[in-house]
Amino acid sequence: MKIKFTETILRDANQSLIATRMPFSEFEPILETLDKAGYYSLECWGGATFDSCLRYLNEDPWERLRKIRKACPNTKLQMLLRGQNLLGYKHYPDDVVRMFVKKSVENGINVIRIFDALNDLRNIEVAVDEALKNGAEVQGTICYTLSPIHDLESYVKTAKDLKAMGVQSICIKDMAGIMSPKEAYDTVKAIKEAVALPVVLHTHSTTGLGFMTLLKAVEAGCDVIDTAISSFSGGTAQPATETMEYVLRQYGYETGLDTAALKKINDFFKPYRAACLKEGLLNPVVMATDTDALGYQIPGGMLSNLVAQLTAQGKLDKLQEVLEETPRVRKDMGYPPLVTPMSQMVGVQATSNVLNGRYKNISKEVKNYVKGEYGRAPGEISDELKKLVLGDEKPMECRFADTLEPAFEQTKKELGETATCDEDVLSYIAFPQIAEKFFAARDELKKRTFSYNITLCEEDK
Ligand code: CO
Repeated sequence: MKIKFTETILRDANQSLIATRMPFSEFEPILETLDKAGYYSLECWGGATFDSCLRYLNEDPWERLRKIRKACPNTKLQMLLRGQNLLGYKHYPDDVVRMFVKKSVENGINVIRIFDALNDLRNIEVAVDEALKNGAEVQGTICYTLSPIHDLESYVKTAKDLKAMGVQSICIKDMAGIMSPKEAYDTVKAIKEAVALPVVLHTHSTTGLGFMTLLKAVEAGCDVIDTAISSFSGGTAQPATETMEYVLRQYGYETGLDTAALKKINDFFKPYRAACLKEGLLNPVVMATDTDALGYQIPGGMLSNLVAQLTAQGKLDKLQEVLEETPRVRKDMGYPPLVTPMSQMVGVQATSNVLNGRYKNISKEVKNYVKGEYGRAPGEISDELKKLVLGDEKPMECRFADTLEPAFEQTKKELGETATCDEDVLSYIAFPQIAEKFFAARDELKKRTFSYNITLCEEDK
């Protein structure tokens, strides 16, 4: 029996625990060991890493990827991609999606995990197609959520649809850490039986279910599990790599992992974890077990957002009402999975409903959602909400991206010399203002280095 591990320290654990603030220089010395540890893949790019590199770390995300590639020639590099939203929060035209995927593979990505927040597969079709064309391994992804319309049957159907698109494996993505061991066992088993593809399970330790959930998933035939090296595991991140390795090895699984390398990796990150705690970058709260999400069936991150929103308005006494309104709003919206950006949309609307009256104010995002701009709602949107937003109009039938003009070539022309390569153009399209600032800082640095070199040469004479 074999079980494979995907290590999340560089992406999801980094994102979930310290808001993706780990600079390349911090993990560079351990890349060689990560490469030798025997992981199935290293999740190291996509998600919030791209935004964070440009916005906070003054790093070129593409260059980061190339450097990781160079340091890790033997391990598959993996990224997370939000389908038609790429790494941002809006829909991009197809030519941009294709170019982004192509360049990701060219710069070193092997495995692309592609998802859509609504599980509307039309929103991942183009990215999947392009990734396959470029020889990447595609993990077709199902966003896991709990609702009266999401059941085993619906997940099996999505898995079959993903298989029909040509994906090489199916990832079950439990972004909120609410999947129980029983649900994991049943879901993995049902999907494995329905589609003969490898199944990957992604969960978070938020509610404390993580280890049990992974173990039962493996018992049901799960092929790959996502874990984080122990010093950056637990809480809102993944269950610990070493713990799962230990347990599964006892059960006779061949993990392929080198435990000495794992220890070295963990020892390397321990002082960094201590520094993050000291600086307040790592808040002990995110490392704790929070079972509230189980009762409310809303993700921990969303719960803390609601508390923050209400506190800012001096209305924390309304929390209970907002928590009761949240599932009603979600029902009205046709049960979207509570993942970005849906969790924010539902939370803000529920808060507004309690503070201002039901649907007195409807946010622009909820209006666009009801119009169909984010894709098809998983269930039926309530008549009341439809009437308020659409009047007598019909929601959009096509993909929102079908209404967008191609943008890559035009942007490239407009940027001129500001962009030094196609990757720059993509960074700009994804995050225009931030990329522009980054380019300016980079140019400034180049000029300075250049004049510094000249000065040195003159002094040499
Ligand atoms: Co995650």
